Formats: sequence, structure tokens, C-alpha cells
Amino acid sequence: MTNLENKTYSDIIEYILKDHHAYLKRELPEIERLVFTIYKVHFFDSGDVLEMVHKLYGQLKAILESHIIKEERALFFDIRDYEKKPSKELLEKILDGINRVEKDNEETLKIIRELRECTNDYELPPSSCSTFESTYDKLQDLERDLNKHIEIESNILFHRLKNEK
Ligand SMILES: [Fe+2]
Repeated sequence: MTNLENKTYSDIIEYILKDHHAYLKRELPEIERLVFTIYKVHFFDSGDVLEMVHKLYGQLKAILESHIIKEERALFFDIRDYEKKPSKELLEKILDGINRVEKDNEETLKIIRELRECTNDYELPPSSCSTFESTYDKLQDLERDLNKHIEIESNILFHRLKNEK
């Protein structure tokens, strides 16, 4: 990760969009397809675990899509405007938006933990196939990417804006 500590708000937003939001837009539908496929194919040997994975992943995808919309349609615009022309009113609006995104981010982290728990740390069953393996690999990549994404938002971008007060 490039050092974002001394970057402007716009630079940090650019980095999040390019590295993390682009990744989600590309991977979320693909992982959804894979999760659905292994649930169907391995219903008789791993149906219990995959029923939970399928359900949790559906919840995760929905929250992440809202996350992208909330940031890309509103919050990031407001932050860019604030950078050009700061005002107390706009900062209040931004902090309110941050609050909502942070609640979603907490929920995201909770689901990630639940996915890890219900799969016993992504342990593959003896009956697994290459699609099963790549699904679990992709879910773990998603976990790593989300941890970084949320860390940058919370510890750098949102943290700095909260200190504007
Ligand atoms: Fe984000």
C-alpha cells in the first residue's frame, strides 16, 4: 500500500475507488456465481456448511453493494466538495454519512468472521473439487481485501475527517 498518511482526501478516495471498489465490482458477482455452483454440486456432501456460506455471502454482497452506493453516490462527493470549500454544515453531513458507513463496515466484519467460523477456517472437505477450492480461495482474498479497505477508510480517511471538528 502506498503511504496514504500525507495524501489529500481526493487522493485517498481515488486510491479506495481504484484498488478496493473496483475489486468488489469485479469479484462480487463472480464469487456469487461460484458459491451458488458449489452449493448445488456439493449439496449432498457439504450442504449444511454451504447453505450457511450461501446465506452469509448473500448478506455480505448486499451490504457491500450498499457500501459502494453510499460512498460513490454521496459521501465521497461531499468529502471532495469539503476539500475545495470547507464548511461546518458540510462537515456535519459528512460525519453523519461516515457514521452510516461505519455501521455497515462493522456488519461486514461480523459476517466475514461468521464465514470463517462456519467453514472451520475455510477447511476443504475430502470431496472438494477445483471449483470448491477456488471459491474458498476467492472468499479469503475478499476477506483480506476488505480488511485493508475498511482499515484505510476507518483509520485514515474517516479518522482524519472526525478530527476536523
Ligand atoms: Fe469503501
